[in-house]
Amino acid sequence: MKKHLLNRRQFGARCAAFGLLFPALSTVRAVQTGAEVLGTRAASKPPARTVKLADGTTVPALGQGGWHLGQGRHPEAVEEEALRTGISLGMTLIDTSGDYGDGRSEQFIGHVLAGQRERIFLVSKVEDDEVTGDGMARACDASLARLGTDYLDLYLLHSPVPRKQFSHVVSGFEQLRAAGKIRAWGVSNFDLGLMKDLFRVPNGHRCATNQLGYNLRHRNIEREILPWCKQRNVPVMAYSPLGGDDNLVVRDQVLAQIGSMHGCSAAAVALAWVIRSGSVIAIPESGSPAHVKENAVALSIALTTQDLQALDAAYPGPPPTA
Ligand SMILES: NC(=O)c1ccc[n+]([C@@H]2O[C@H](COP(=O)([O-])OP(=O)(O)OC[C@H]3O[C@@H](n4cnc5c(N)ncnc54)[C@H](OP(=O)(O)O)[C@@H]3O)[C@@H](O)[C@H]2O)c1
Repeated sequence: MKKHLLNRRQFGARCAAFGLLFPALSTVRAVQTGAEVLGTRAASKPPARTVKLADGTTVPALGQGGWHLGQGRHPEAVEEEALRTGISLGMTLIDTSGDYGDGRSEQFIGHVLAGQRERIFLVSKVEDDEVTGDGMARACDASLARLGTDYLDLYLLHSPVPRKQFSHVVSGFEQLRAAGKIRAWGVSNFDLGLMKDLFRVPNGHRCATNQLGYNLRHRNIEREILPWCKQRNVPVMAYSPLGGDDNLVVRDQVLAQIGSMHGCSAAAVALAWVIRSGSVIAIPESGSPAHVKENAVALSIALTTQDLQALDAAYPGPPPTA
């Protein structure tokens, strides 16, 4: 099948977008009109629905964040339906932390996961002030109890500790792995210098992921840390992929126009952009079943070269390093 041919729905959506809906979007239109005339609006590579960790484990490219879940932002039954909906649509990686809502996020997730633990790739975190002595083992046991499970698929250090503690933290993680309490470990909010130093300590290279903020408005990681991680088979797990609570990109007109061409929401476009490389996992959070359904569509969108150019024009990435 020729990928540049449009089906009827795409054609209709595109006509509407160009002719009627968004007359002011000159940047997007300038890029796209030329492409349409030349017939070069070819689809980019099919989207990466899964991401492979260095140990060979395959995880969905789109998971679900749990920061505010179980804490009254939405009625509990609605959040439960949202999480279950995401799971049924393939967003089976779930991210939480013992710190979120003082354990309430983990308790809520544990309740929803009862009876379907094996389907889930479960991620939780230990805090930087919990790592001294046998603190990691105690924190992990507490998380397991709240989650109602006997293992985590991935356990992350939530934020950096002083470098002199790296060896102790890595050996704490490795002991938990040997005990079968965690299957893999990683870090969060580590910059390039910290990652390099982590990889210098014994077993530091076993770090499975670095969880970092990444979205259209925050592209700084593209400059150094993202390529460095990619070269080492360390997928980045993107938090706040929709921009986070205070900076949501979902009302953006460029995203809305691209979404109208693909028959999806702006949020789905933003998420498809985050996971476009095949080496980034996105963990959007939503306590709304309708939003979760929108978000899951990102797994089946192939952004075109022109879409990516329009997004680059609207949200420029960092300048390349000299
Ligand atoms: N490691 C770290 O330091 C760190 C830091 C921050 C976050 N995280 C993790 O990353 C996860 C996600 O990050 P985040 O919560 O900061 O930001 P986010 O996922 O970018 O945004 C969450 C916000 O987007 C809304 N939303 C979700 N889908 C939507 C849609 N389709 N349309 C409109 N609004 C939508 C949510 O509200 P509704 O509930 O109403 O949908 C919520 O207000 C967290 O839950 C947490 O697990 C980790």
